[in-house]
Amino acid sequence: MASDLRSSEWYSGDARNAYIHRAWMRRGAPASAFEGRPQIAIANTASDLTPCNAHLTEVAQSVKNGIYEAGGIPLELPVVSLGETQVRPTAMLWRNMAAMATEEMLRANPIDGVVLLGGCDKTIPSLLMAAASVDLPAVVVPGGPMLTGTFRGEALGCGTDVWRLSEEVRAGTLSEDQFLRSESSMIRSRGHCNTMGTASTMALVAEALGTVIPGLAGTPAPDSRLLEAAHETGRLAVELVAADRRPSTLLTAASFHNAIVALAAIGGSTNAVVHLLAIAGRLGIELTIDDFDRIGADVPLLVNLQPAGHYLMDDLQRAGGFLAVLREVRDLLDPTALTITGRPLVDYLDEARIWDPDVIASRANPLLPAAGITVLRGSLAPGGAIIKPAAASAHLLKHRGRAMVFDSIEDFRARIDDPELDVDEDSVLILRGCGPKGYPGMPEVSNMPLPKKLLEKGVRDMVRICDGRMSGTAYGTVILHVTPESAAGGPLQVVQTGDWIVLDVRNRRLDIDVPDAELAARVPNDATVNGYANPRRGWERLYIDHVLQADQGADLDFLRGASGSKVSRESH
Ligand code: FES
Ligand code: MG
Repeated sequence: MASDLRSSEWYSGDARNAYIHRAWMRRGAPASAFEGRPQIAIANTASDLTPCNAHLTEVAQSVKNGIYEAGGIPLELPVVSLGETQVRPTAMLWRNMAAMATEEMLRANPIDGVVLLGGCDKTIPSLLMAAASVDLPAVVVPGGPMLTGTFRGEALGCGTDVWRLSEEVRAGTLSEDQFLRSESSMIRSRGHCNTMGTASTMALVAEALGTVIPGLAGTPAPDSRLLEAAHETGRLAVELVAADRRPSTLLTAASFHNAIVALAAIGGSTNAVVHLLAIAGRLGIELTIDDFDRIGADVPLLVNLQPAGHYLMDDLQRAGGFLAVLREVRDLLDPTALTITGRPLVDYLDEARIWDPDVIASRANPLLPAAGITVLRGSLAPGGAIIKPAAASAHLLKHRGRAMVFDSIEDFRARIDDPELDVDEDSVLILRGCGPKGYPGMPEVSNMPLPKKLLEKGVRDMVRICDGRMSGTAYGTVILHVTPESAAGGPLQVVQTGDWIVLDVRNRRLDIDVPDAELAARVPNDATVNGYANPRRGWERLYIDHVLQADQGADLDFLRGASGSKVSRESH
């Protein structure tokens, strides 16, 4: 095995360069560390500024124990980490940077395989993108959700209840003081958001893809079983190297099929669409937004978690966990898709059970018969847009209303609560300039708060349209990821306040009722164009010049595909 290892290109032999590579790494390590033992990186997104991942260093220790036990050498590699709530202008702007930096450091270093430790929203996607492009044996340990916090006897869902409670304050049904007092109750423990937001979704989707030991995703961060599974994953990483099981040999169209089925059944975040498209793009797998509609649209909703439902992630675990959900939709899964253990995903479903049917519904009695993401096209979104009907209001899924257009989130905030604003509950709120290029980074602003005067009248949902994304913890009749975005010259750039907008979700249409010729003759306002980001230098400049639209996962054009793990030259 020794000479087969990638790391032996650094460490083996008597030449001067091998001496250099070994000597600086020795520092107490036994000579055997460099004699044919797999070098396993632990790509660790722990950071004090990514609070959802701060505990991953403890998880890394369990991974290390497992790697040692199986004969490998563990090497912790801190990688770029993104705290969803901290990073400005939006964590999504840095996802591709995190993926690129991780890919390059995995390639540049003498390692044979990698364990990926992620949690908060963008961290698992960036790690998987990196692993796909460097194509070294890789396995994910999701850091797990936090425990449920309670306030005045009621459970608080991370994210979702912030939106809900802040709307209540604006509607005058909750005092400012009570709202602020809920703040310290929301984050009860270590771990990521406990709703079915993007972090929970991506952990489960990573397991559906086959990149996590089956049954692990969804284990709460403080649960001892997480450490046990982390230890087991460390052992597995050493086996992966021997088996040469790499992203390019593991992940297939069948894996993505299963991820899309899972995404619908759990009522997962719309952000998973962008992330899965980006990961598939690294692997050269032809995945399109239409696949989400085709494969996922008729999958039943089985998981009763916020934001679409009631419960939180530790309830899901107690109720039987993710495998119990997958067991219900087993016939919709592709049985050929393998997991990181070498066995098919469907092999793991026999023993799964639903212990609480309030949390995990059975196939016979689903929460909704069809839960997937619907792709809309039409004169307002020629390249497509998405909506999650399960999080929308049934009465708005077919709707005709007049546009109220905002050129930026700042414009929106300045005007939305103006009592004179010409809107009623039938109006369609449109926010542009929030796409990958325009903002930049496609922020989670699509779930615009409703006008205060309508909230006070009891209105709780309106049709909203945006070229940005929406937090996975949000809900409402929100059409997002409109492509092409406004800043890329899409029709969104010339829609005007007062235009009639026609939404027909069943027929998958989103149109402006303005004659084509008139639309084509319109030119964007200065206010619109001036709202687009135009940085002079740095990552933002690189990003704007190279970012692809949402329907291609908002990856950078030059990062699609893989380069493998070969390095061109020796360092000395
Ligand atoms: Fe980190 Fe929600 S902010 S997962
Ligand atoms: Mg989020």
